[in-house]
Amino acid sequence: MDQKVFFIKTFGCQMNERDSEIMAQSLSNHGYVEGMDINGADLIILNTCSIRAKAEQKVMSMLGYLRKTKIKKPDLKICVAGCVAQQEGKKIISKMTHVDLIVGTQNIYNIGELLNNVSINGPQVITHLEDKYDIPNLIPDLSPATVPFRKFVTIMQGCNNYCTYCVVPHTRGREVSRKVNDIIDEVAILVKAGVKEITLLGQNVNSYGKTNSVSDFSGAYSFSDLLRDVSKIEGLKRLRFTTSNPKDLTDELMRCFEDIDNLCHQFHLPVQAGSDSVLKKMNRKYTVDQYLTQVDKLRQYCPEIALTTDVIVGFPGESAQDFEGTMNLLEKVQFHGSFSFKYSDRPGTRAIVFEDKIEESVKSERLARFQARQGEISLNRNREYVGKTKTVMVEECSEEGVKSRTETNHIVHCAKTTELKPGDCVDVTITHAGRHSLKGQLKPLR
Ligand code: 5AD
Ligand code: SF4
Repeated sequence: MDQKVFFIKTFGCQMNERDSEIMAQSLSNHGYVEGMDINGADLIILNTCSIRAKAEQKVMSMLGYLRKTKIKKPDLKICVAGCVAQQEGKKIISKMTHVDLIVGTQNIYNIGELLNNVSINGPQVITHLEDKYDIPNLIPDLSPATVPFRKFVTIMQGCNNYCTYCVVPHTRGREVSRKVNDIIDEVAILVKAGVKEITLLGQNVNSYGKTNSVSDFSGAYSFSDLLRDVSKIEGLKRLRFTTSNPKDLTDELMRCFEDIDNLCHQFHLPVQAGSDSVLKKMNRKYTVDQYLTQVDKLRQYCPEIALTTDVIVGFPGESAQDFEGTMNLLEKVQFHGSFSFKYSDRPGTRAIVFEDKIEESVKSERLARFQARQGEISLNRNREYVGKTKTVMVEECSEEGVKSRTETNHIVHCAKTTELKPGDCVDVTITHAGRHSLKGQLKPLR
């Protein structure tokens, strides 16, 4: 019998990228092979994101397009997974009769079996969300030829913070920490197979071990403990993590940057707004001053740390003065980079009913101003690296050149002077700074 080919299109965050890998593994355990695009696929999975309305619209328009594809190829199976599936699954399947399977965020681990079930019983919506559960283990099957140089490892799922704008607690459920030993075992297997860099993933990694686990947490084992234990795995060259909430950032975690050698000097610390009244309405549970104090402390522990952030402009009720607060904060912190967004109403969130929604044109103006200033600051920050020698990890090496990354997460492009492979660490002297990347010259290998 011919092998069935699947294609997964991933929208959204790193959590979703990891979930796509998990689905791919479940499918290959059920005899499917992965294809590179929708042409020739027997199964198409859209792994969706609903963080902003735009992300969700993209999914809907792609589903519209796939209706025609299915008319031409009636045996094609179409599956919607991820955050939109979780929230809107029932609506989608009732309106879009060409969709065969809706898989919620906690139901991806056995997608292979769920598809078998669809073949027998017809279209299904599987979107159970549990409050307490053990995050399943799917130990990666890594053949030497395909081992990537870096991997994401999930340490937590869900979120308990209920920021008033955010859909995630509704789409991914309560916060659950994965068992320590499962994490350590997975990282050890990956590193032994040749992975050089690990990023620990969760919506709010700073509260690791605190909440809702069915397993062995007494509250005595923290995220810092996990970082220390993972960092000791022999052969692991670089360790990163994402994402953090400032309200749970401890001194103990900041100290890790001082004394864990392979922990990369990079921190993504979403601030969201630079006005106390907006932060309060967002339910962020910290003030601008508290955030600034954390930034100062982080820089004391690790002077070269590269800080990035997320910002929302035009939150309901954001006055011109509130927005100036965000601009002032940008000036004070001088972030290396940031991701900034216009506030978008999301179903199920508290902010959807807040009054004083900001006009689209005002949001656009504020976003443009913020991004323009951030661009200048990023360029200035990047110029600080010119003339310095940094160790970079190679990501790609071809005749066109070498793409690599510093531990501060800056991309560096160099001319190829020697054969290198992804995961190799080499020294480069930085020769040029742009807004989004650096250029450098490879130092001769010793
Ligand atoms: N509107 C705009 N941006 C949002 N984010 C989360 N929810 C919304 C929303 N409703 C942003 C936050 C978060 C990032 C992942 O997306 O800045 O940190
Ligand atoms: Fe998008 Fe958030 Fe879901 Fe990630 S967790 S896919 S960012 S909605």
